[in-house]
Amino acid sequence: MSARVLPAARPEAIAEAASVVRGGGLVAFPTETVYGLGANAFDPRAVARVFAAKRRPSFDPLIVHLAAAADLPRVASVVDSRVDRLAGRFWPGPLTLVLPKTDAVPEIVTSGLDTVGVRVPAHAAAHALLLAAGTPIAAPSANPFGYVSPTTAAHVVEQLGDAVDLVLDGGPCRVGVESTILSLAQDPPAILRPGGLAREELSACLGTPVALATAADLRPLAPGQLPVHYATRTPLRILDGKAQPAPAGAGRVGLRALGPSAAAGYAAVEVLAEDGDLATAAARLFAALRRLDALSLDLILAEPCPERGLGLAIMDRLRRAARSGRSYIND
Ligand code: TXA
Ligand code: MG
Repeated sequence: MSARVLPAARPEAIAEAASVVRGGGLVAFPTETVYGLGANAFDPRAVARVFAAKRRPSFDPLIVHLAAAADLPRVASVVDSRVDRLAGRFWPGPLTLVLPKTDAVPEIVTSGLDTVGVRVPAHAAAHALLLAAGTPIAAPSANPFGYVSPTTAAHVVEQLGDAVDLVLDGGPCRVGVESTILSLAQDPPAILRPGGLAREELSACLGTPVALATAADLRPLAPGQLPVHYATRTPLRILDGKAQPAPAGAGRVGLRALGPSAAAGYAAVEVLAEDGDLATAAARLFAALRRLDALSLDLILAEPCPERGLGLAIMDRLRRAARSGRSYIND
């Protein structure tokens, strides 16, 4: 049995999804970054179903989604003036802030941490759902643990259709990579995961360069504690530069090119952005990886991109897929 899929633009669909959330069910919903698998953040049993549906280890905490920044005190205690500045500038949007949690947030949501990841998504359907449900929604990306995140409703149905009660279809996600996670629970603040909001924008807003977290900052999610993951089932390698002709003797090879490519001999080619624009490339990355992964290829080669703007998030996700970036996991 596959989940029911309703158009996210319909008010009746939002009302029904909100009642599923209030009743302890699971709703997959669109955000501007990727699709989320949502449950009432204040209902530990519902949140437990999220972990089960994704086969996600219980030590990997979930992000809590709010309708508006004004709801923040429900889940986080805020004593930091930078929060107002960041929230005022970037919410709703692809920024998750890690802050000290309130007692109202069940331990299962934060995997026992005393901090909580919070964001206000910038998608009309996500906003409407949060308002109608009247509760914060805990939601990881709606993919099985270890696989590429979903950027369409069809991606969700293919992999988690049996495990969700309802899928809201809001079309392809605009940003296409997950939110940038900034921890304000440490000094100085650090980016725990590069994502849909460029590091340069965070640095400009805070008036100081923002560092990427080190492996030590990422504890208890430190490398080595986690099983190794493929982001695609097909082995993926990152090239040093623009693609050359397909390597001989490697079988059927797929190419994930950044811009137009004349390289010969590939069984399939996915171009992320005709003009090389990094935001466009980020928006198309996961769908392109999924299409290549569905072709039973022997190898996927991926062209690198500059690590500025959304290129930082693209390279982070590619390194996870290539299993070379052990500081992050693909959850
Ligand atoms: O764009 C997004 O962030 C999407 C959409 C659905 O909002 N969500 C998403 O969730 O990517 P998920 O669960 O796939 O990734 C959340 C990441 C995990 O790596 C988790 O470890 C980290 O956020 N995280 C959550 N709470 C945390 C906390 N209190 N401290 C440190 N890391 C945290
Ligand atoms: Mg995820």
